[in-house]
Amino acid sequence: MFDLNKLVRENIKSLTPYSSARDEFSGDAKVFLDANENALGSPLTKWYNRYPDPHQVKVKEALSAVKSVEASKIFLGNGSDECIDLLYRCFCNPGKDNVIICPPTYGMYEVSANINDVEIRKAPLLDDFQLDLVHLENLVDKNTKLIWICSPNNPTANSMNREDVETVLNNFSGLVVVDEAYINFSRQKSFIQELKDYPNLVVLQTFSKAWGLAGLRLGMAFASEEIIEVLNRVKPPYNINQVTQELALKALEEVGQVNDMIKELVQMRVALKGVFEKIPFIKKVYPSDANFLLVKVDNAKEIYHYLLTRGIVVRDRSSVQLCENCLRITVGTEEENTELIEAMADWFVANKPVNA
Ligand SMILES: Cc1ncc(COP(=O)(O)O)c(C=O)c1O
Repeated sequence: MFDLNKLVRENIKSLTPYSSARDEFSGDAKVFLDANENALGSPLTKWYNRYPDPHQVKVKEALSAVKSVEASKIFLGNGSDECIDLLYRCFCNPGKDNVIICPPTYGMYEVSANINDVEIRKAPLLDDFQLDLVHLENLVDKNTKLIWICSPNNPTANSMNREDVETVLNNFSGLVVVDEAYINFSRQKSFIQELKDYPNLVVLQTFSKAWGLAGLRLGMAFASEEIIEVLNRVKPPYNINQVTQELALKALEEVGQVNDMIKELVQMRVALKGVFEKIPFIKKVYPSDANFLLVKVDNAKEIYHYLLTRGIVVRDRSSVQLCENCLRITVGTEEENTELIEAMADWFVANKPVNA
C-alpha cells in the first residue's frame, strides 16, 4: 500500500544534489584548498573558518546511542521548522497536492504550506482535543501527501490517543508526521520505536524544549532510511553550523542533567496547575503533557495586557479555534512562576466583583 516512490516529487527524484567540497573529499589531509575558506583564520579566538560536516556524522552517532535509532534514520534540521519546510519541498507539488492538519495546532504547518503553495485541509480536533478520525478520513484524496499530528499538541498541551495515531498510520498511504516537540514532558511513549512497523511514519523532535537549546536551532526527523535520503538530497549543504554541532555533541553527554530538568519542569507544571485551579478568574486548566499550561480565563485579552504591564509575557491564544479566552503559559523558573502568581493575585484583588 505504501509506495514512497509515488510520494516524492518528480523534480526531486531526478535532482542532482549539490555536491559540496566536503562531500567530494573524505579522509585525512593537511592542506585544505578546496572550499574557498579563509586560510588565515577569523577575528574570533576560536576559529570557525572551516565549513562544518554536511552530514553531521558525530552528532548523529551520539544521538543514535541516546535515542536507540540507527544514525541512517536520523535527519538534522536548522530547528524542526526546517524539517517541516523540507517535508513540503520533497513531497508536495505546489498548486496540486494537499496536506491535513488538526487545528488548533502548531502554526508552522500551515505557514510552511502557504509558502510552498500547498493546499491545507483542516480536521479540527474534537472538543476533548483528540483527533476527529472520521473527518480526517473524509478529507483524504489522491493528492493528500502528509497528515500532521502534533503530540503532545501545541497549544492544547495534551497527547493524542495512541490508538488513533496508529489508526491514521495504518490507513493512510501518504506520510504521517508525528511532531513530538514536547514528548519528554509526556507520559506517552515516543513513536520513534515504531519506525520499523510504519514505513510512512516521520517523527519530529527538537533540541529547543527539554534540551534547553532553542538558541542553537537543532531539530530532528526520524524516519526510514529511504525518507531520510530524500530529505538529505534537498537540504542546504551546511544546514547545521559548526557551533551547533559542537555544542549539541557536548549536550548529548549530559542526558542525566536534561532528565533532571525535565523532572523539575514537570513537578513545577503540576504545582502551577494546582495554584491556577484555585484562582477564581481561571475557569479551566487543561491537562498538560508539555512544559506549558493552557488556561481558560474570563477575559484573556485583558489579562494578557495586564500581565504585560507587570513585565510578564504569556501567549494569548484566544483567537484560535477551540481556545476562546485561553492563554498559553510556559512553566518558568520557581521565581518566575511565583512572580506570575503574585501578578494574578493582584489582578484578582483589583478586579474582584463587589460581593465576592
Ligand atoms: C509543536 C512544535 N513543533 C515544532 C516547533 C519548532 O521547533 P524548533 O525550535 O525545533 O524549530 C515548535 C516550537 O514551538 C512546536 O511547538
